[in-house]
Amino acid sequence: MHEVLDRLLIRKHRGCFLKYLSLIYEIEIKTIVEIGVFRGKNAEVLRQEFPEAHLYLIDPWTPDSSYLTSGSAVSEDQVIYHKAKERTYRLFENDPHVTILEKPSLEAAPLVPSALDLVFIDANHAYASVKQDIVTWKPKIRPGGILSGHNYGRPRLPGVVQAVTECLPSFHLGQDEVWYSFIEEKRTEEDSNL
Ligand SMILES: C[S@@+](CC[C@H](N)C(=O)[O-])C[C@H]1O[C@@H](n2cnc3c(N)ncnc32)[C@H](O)[C@@H]1O
Repeated sequence: MHEVLDRLLIRKHRGCFLKYLSLIYEIEIKTIVEIGVFRGKNAEVLRQEFPEAHLYLIDPWTPDSSYLTSGSAVSEDQVIYHKAKERTYRLFENDPHVTILEKPSLEAAPLVPSALDLVFIDANHAYASVKQDIVTWKPKIRPGGILSGHNYGRPRLPGVVQAVTECLPSFHLGQDEVWYSFIEEKRTEEDSNL
């Protein structure tokens, strides 16, 4: 077990860190949503580290103006997004346990089942978008599951810090600019009386 944990931490990659969390806290991960996929680099790592999980990959691959002016856009060139999309489809073409939703986060949310184990937010990093993603996806995670995202603390993306600190009463920071929060187990009436 120690060797596995060391390997995950040495790589300093968001997908590996999420696997590390799941092992350390013994959280079973059967469904994962990634919001903002681009070329599928993190999705590839998630696939390797969670071979049993169903992956929902969400990205419109057509930048809207709010994304392009957010300061977080990977590129302004539509051809780049098109190539990124094609690469993602190619990566997972033979994988029946991957659902690709070519839509913006908020449109995709109703199409994804609830009681998710892990949601990773890495789309539009502007304050209002991260906040909307947190508010939309948090209720879709099961108690004991993980809500997480990327780029906490990157100086040119201050909206991430602002949205995460404002929306989440408790969260933690991990490797590769990952923020994460455990969704609270529902307390029974008996627990509340303790
Ligand atoms: C930083 S990249 C994602 C990188 C990927 N998570 C990784 O680690 O390999 C951000 C992506 O978010 C996508 N995006 C922008 N607005 C979005 C939205 N409203 N919903 C979902 N994805 C969005 C962009 O098209 C872009 O591909």
